[in-house]
Amino acid sequence: MMSMNECLEAIENRRSIRKFKEKEISESDIKILLHAAQMAPSAGNLQAREFIIVSAEEGRKNLARAALNQEFIMEAPIVIVACANMTRSEPRYGARSALYAIQDATASVMNILLAAHSIGLGTCWIGAFDEREVSSLLNLPEHVRPVALVPVGYPDEAPIAPARLGERIEHWEKW
Ligand SMILES: Cc1cc2nc3c(=O)[nH]c(=O)nc-3n(C[C@H](O)[C@H](O)[C@H](O)COP(=O)(O)O)c2cc1C
Repeated sequence: MMSMNECLEAIENRRSIRKFKEKEISESDIKILLHAAQMAPSAGNLQAREFIIVSAEEGRKNLARAALNQEFIMEAPIVIVACANMTRSEPRYGARSALYAIQDATASVMNILLAAHSIGLGTCWIGAFDEREVSSLLNLPEHVRPVALVPVGYPDEAPIAPARLGERIEHWEKW
């Protein structure tokens, strides 16, 4: 059995959770997740990312609908919407900044997922949603793109890990 420190444990055992208990999350736990989001790397440390925390039932229902009716989203007590700020790093990085903004935001998403797991919370990275609808629901300005919805709650299931592709995706030295 491979020995694992806490970081590797979280990487190994975090799963996408699609069934949540009816239990609120404390304000301090939400702060832990937002801090984890802040601590992710970003291009030039410009942090071209923004987070909308949706807790109201109506808001969560609307997001579930915008996410192509993935109804489990509304069962989570909060949904964190990670967004890319498409202009923050543009002056420094020009055309490359669009890609960086997406990476800044998604690096934060991964931190949120792992931090949540480490404090007993479950999450699911939701990428399937109508971008225009989400932007309109959340009043996002033109230069802010939603990149992932992250429902967060106490897990009410313990899925096993879906299989990975393994060595098929490893290319040493060259393709
Ligand atoms: C970019 C991206 C988009 C995803 N979109 C969805 C989604 O819309 N709905 C969903 O239930 N899961 C979604 N997932 C979660 C994946 O289905 C899940 O990560 C994958 O099956 C592996 O399972 P695991 O997270 O438990 O390891 C998404 C994950 C990523 C990274």
